[in-house]
Amino acid sequence: MPVNLHALAEHHIPQVLEACHDWKELAQHGPPYWRPRSSAELRRKIVDAAGPQLAQAYSFVLADDSQLVGETSIHAIDWRNRVAQVGICIWRPEDRRRGYGRAGAEAAISWALDELGLLRLEAWILATNKASQELFAGLDFAYEGTLTGRYQHGGVRHDVVVYGLTR
Ligand SMILES: CC(C)(COP(=O)(O)OP(=O)(O)OC[C@H]1O[C@@H](n2cnc3c(N)ncnc32)[C@H](O)[C@@H]1OP(=O)(O)O)[C@@H](O)C(=O)NCCC(=O)NCCS
Repeated sequence: MPVNLHALAEHHIPQVLEACHDWKELAQHGPPYWRPRSSAELRRKIVDAAGPQLAQAYSFVLADDSQLVGETSIHAIDWRNRVAQVGICIWRPEDRRRGYGRAGAEAAISWALDELGLLRLEAWILATNKASQELFAGLDFAYEGTLTGRYQHGGVRHDVVVYGLTR
């Protein structure tokens, strides 16, 4: 399913908040959904990437022909070492498994490598999130290790696995 990337912008905010209203479903997949999303959080992301200096994170929304379906990000950018993390989320369960996740992640990864000149990307994924692990394994990321109890959700600590791609 084709999907277009747009830099997160002010006019997207109401649609993102609406699409993420079921934050408890999203929270089980990890940050940044551990609490209801806010316009303040999204505005901060927009401001942080306003330039002219390089940002530590860039956020994009994913759009199909009719609506926004999710988001992807290049974040936790370590410019000295040319490393960053990749985030991807298709917000509504009914929009998953339609190819948006792969298309969005591929586009963000290509942009990070080719335009930002990053040399290493990581995906930090909950150990229970097999869908995301399969997605990144299919994009040539390799399992590199497990961070024990790195994410707290519902009062329980969950392991996070790190997948990496080094150019
Ligand atoms: C993980 C996620 C982004 C995948 O996006 P998607 O649009 O559903 O995935 P796609 O349809 O593009 O599928 C791409 C590949 O991902 C893998 N995949 C996706 N969903 C899967 C599932 N439920 N079980 C196993 N593998 C799955 C498969 O390898 C699939 O390739 P295939 O279709 O050839 O089998 C999506 O499930 C999602 O947003 N989940 C909630 C948020 C989340 O977990 N984000 C990632 C946090 S690290």
